[in-house]
Amino acid sequence: MATFTSSKDKKVQKQTSRYIDEAGKESFPSSDPPAWTLGSEFEVNAFRQANKMDITPILMREHVAMRQVARALNSQIKLLENGEQADKAQLEKIAQFFHEYVDECHYKKEQALLDMMKRNAQKPTDYMLRDLNKEKKLGSDLTQELMGLMNKGDLHSQRLLALLKRIVNLHINHTGKEEEYVFPYIKQMDDVNRDSLLNDFKKFDQQFSMQKGAQWLAFSEQLK
Ligand SMILES: [Fe+2]
Repeated sequence: MATFTSSKDKKVQKQTSRYIDEAGKESFPSSDPPAWTLGSEFEVNAFRQANKMDITPILMREHVAMRQVARALNSQIKLLENGEQADKAQLEKIAQFFHEYVDECHYKKEQALLDMMKRNAQKPTDYMLRDLNKEKKLGSDLTQELMGLMNKGDLHSQRLLALLKRIVNLHINHTGKEEEYVFPYIKQMDDVNRDSLLNDFKKFDQQFSMQKGAQWLAFSEQLK
């Protein structure tokens, strides 16, 4: 679960900033430590800890979870294509993930990010911002439709099959589009805006419940 910048954490960031190469603090998580960290395990851990608190890694972690959950729907799609029934418990849990975690937590963070970008000169095009907002609304609508079908006990219809395919495609494409067209602008954010946004993220996580957020991330991990 992501944590946020305290004064102690800022000290850690300062201490570790001299180890950060030209990729800067918004570089994406990497499985292997870069060469400049070799032989310095403490600094590696401190850098990783500090990096997790920044905007892009927080949103990326949530996107990874969304893609894991979306991909898990493929096994349900295969069941339906083979003429079998979908797994009701699995589909209900996945619908709950998108309804509860994505709508109520992830999208709020990104809305705050997009609102901030709208006030700045360096930002994605208005067309792209509108497009992304429409996709978020569509994602919420498709989740509602899935919940409606679950309530009706529909576990085998062509409508359910088509809906699951739309949900998978939407979330895979939408997260990729944000990473390509929105995330690069995060690097250009000044420290005042960055700190303000991180405080908003913290507020949303607390309103949502840090514990529930961690549970949904753990749920996505189980689906690997
Ligand atoms: Fe997103």
